[in-house]
Amino acid sequence: MKQAWILGASLCLAVAGVQAQSVSEAISSHLHLGVASCANSVCHGATETATKASIQMNEFAVWQEFDPHAKSYQTLLSAESKSIAKKLGLGAAEQAGVCLDCHADHVPAAQRGEKFQIEDGVGCEACHGGAEPWIASHVEASHAENLTAGLYPTEDPVKRSALCLSCHAGSRDRMITHRIMGAGHPRLSFELDTFTWLHPHYTVDDDYEQRKGNYDGVRDWGVGQASAAINALDILLDPKAGWHGIFPELVLFDCHACHRPMSGKAWGPRQGTGLGPGVVRLNDANLLMFRHVLAAVDSNAAKQVFDGSRKLHQATTTDREQTLAAARALRERLMVLRETTKATQFPAESLGVILGSLVADAERGEFRDYAAAEQAAMAVQSVVVAFEGAGLLDEAATKRMQQRVDALYASIEKDESWSMLKFTEALRAVRAAAP
Ligand code: HEC
Ligand code: HEC
Ligand code: HEC
Ligand code: HEC
Repeated sequence: MKQAWILGASLCLAVAGVQAQSVSEAISSHLHLGVASCANSVCHGATETATKASIQMNEFAVWQEFDPHAKSYQTLLSAESKSIAKKLGLGAAEQAGVCLDCHADHVPAAQRGEKFQIEDGVGCEACHGGAEPWIASHVEASHAENLTAGLYPTEDPVKRSALCLSCHAGSRDRMITHRIMGAGHPRLSFELDTFTWLHPHYTVDDDYEQRKGNYDGVRDWGVGQASAAINALDILLDPKAGWHGIFPELVLFDCHACHRPMSGKAWGPRQGTGLGPGVVRLNDANLLMFRHVLAAVDSNAAKQVFDGSRKLHQATTTDREQTLAAARALRERLMVLRETTKATQFPAESLGVILGSLVADAERGEFRDYAAAEQAAMAVQSVVVAFEGAGLLDEAATKRMQQRVDALYASIEKDESWSMLKFTEALRAVRAAAP
């Protein structure tokens, strides 16, 4: 395990210099043929899961019936969307580019094939990339050949997280601003491993692992946290997306730093920020989580992220230049640590270490901010599934753990009336049930 960690550290030096293409550039670089082009009954439109093929073959049916992405364009026709668009002075939401960017496969007209329909919402090619160069050959070709032809590498946690986050957190070129939130858009929250398995049209079996490598939920949770933090720093560092008038973009800050009753008197110190009362805090939930991932494999790296985050928080109380400098330094560190995380195989012992590290932080009051508690709950879910996967839980223990994870989720059900103490208790109970 140590070796994998060191190997990862040298690998990442090789990738650090490469200027990556943005997600929307990668996704829209080829013609999009439309969902109908994938949905034939002998292709991805089977009604039942195939037993002989390496894939399910019923991807279209699963997507259409269970996956909210299939209805994301319809959402823009709802009364809620009308109200949001009206408050923003946008006209019809289903025609507003800013809404279509995330609620549909919004490629330019020149990139749309004959069967393409914007009404299909977030269709196959919004995630797998324009199919034109590979549709004819992809059944016979190897996975590597398909990737070379332009299929987007959704199995790669770094690439997948960038893809999902471009809509689930917003990115420099697909922004969700505080103005959009202010008009009534729901707050966004995302965790890579949890969301990958909410409505899947894929399974990971031996055949999958042979074609695409192994799936490790703890690794993907970790990579997803680093990606979310990097994505937020990218927005902060962007002179256009990161600022609005005299204020930095408020969507990057902890919503509940401003949105809570004045009578609550709920302020308390946090080591992770070192800030006093009455200061607007950047949302650091992903940075906080990434430290817990690292705690299991490299405590020195965890300390670097802690120090870098604290420096960034402190810099926000001095001036813009120091804030940007601290953001740049932290981003550089995270880019390296994300690659080492991707190359890490988390041993069974690390699962307990991660839970212990989360509980210790909760007891220190680090999860004062709702967004952090919410991320911690999703983290616990990923770690518990990994315990099961590692064969560390028998059936009774699995059931007991799951009940306690459900109670943990219940403790944060309402963002406006949750209690940090109840959350901490529920987290302790999960830890106590772990092997
Ligand atoms: C092009 C934008 C876009 C991309 C890319 C995208 N999503 Fe989504 N996703 C959405 C939108 C919009 C919704 C909400 C749909 C609705 O209810 O109208 C959504 C909803 C979801 C939901 C349902 C959430 C819930 O509360 O039930 C899950 C799960 C999800 N996405 C996972 C993912 C994952 C995993 C990825 C990356 C592999 C991803 N998404 C990539 C736009 C996107
Ligand atoms: C950066 C991407 C992004 C942009 C821009 C965006 N949305 Fe969304 N929207 C999402 C995602 C992701 C969700 C799903 C949130 C979840 O469930 O986790 C969502 C959810 C919604 C919902 C709630 C859907 C439900 O099922 O409850 C409405 C309504 C909505 N969006 C309308 C709009 C409108 C109108 C616009 C344009 C003003 C817009 N959105 C712009 C990403 C975006
Ligand atoms: C929100 C993003 C998203 C959308 C939309 C989407 N997929 Fe996927 N797809 C994924 C992810 C994530 C995976 C799993 C990771 C991987 O193996 O690449 C996947 C995997 C697959 C696989 C491979 C399964 C395997 O065993 O290798 C197929 C085939 C597939 N999708 C087809 C489709 C089809 C057809 C559609 C449209 C009906 C579609 N997908 C829509 C994200 C998406
Ligand atoms: C720096 C403080 C600050 C932060 C941080 C902040 N907001 Fe706001 N929010 C405001 C202000 C100020 C308004 C405008 C209130 C008004 O118009 O009366 C507002 C308005 C809103 C409204 C409209 C409320 C209404 O009554 O119409 C929503 C919804 C909202 N914000 C959501 C969010 C979300 C979600 C986040 C985090 C992603 C967030 N805010 C972060 C200060 C903040």
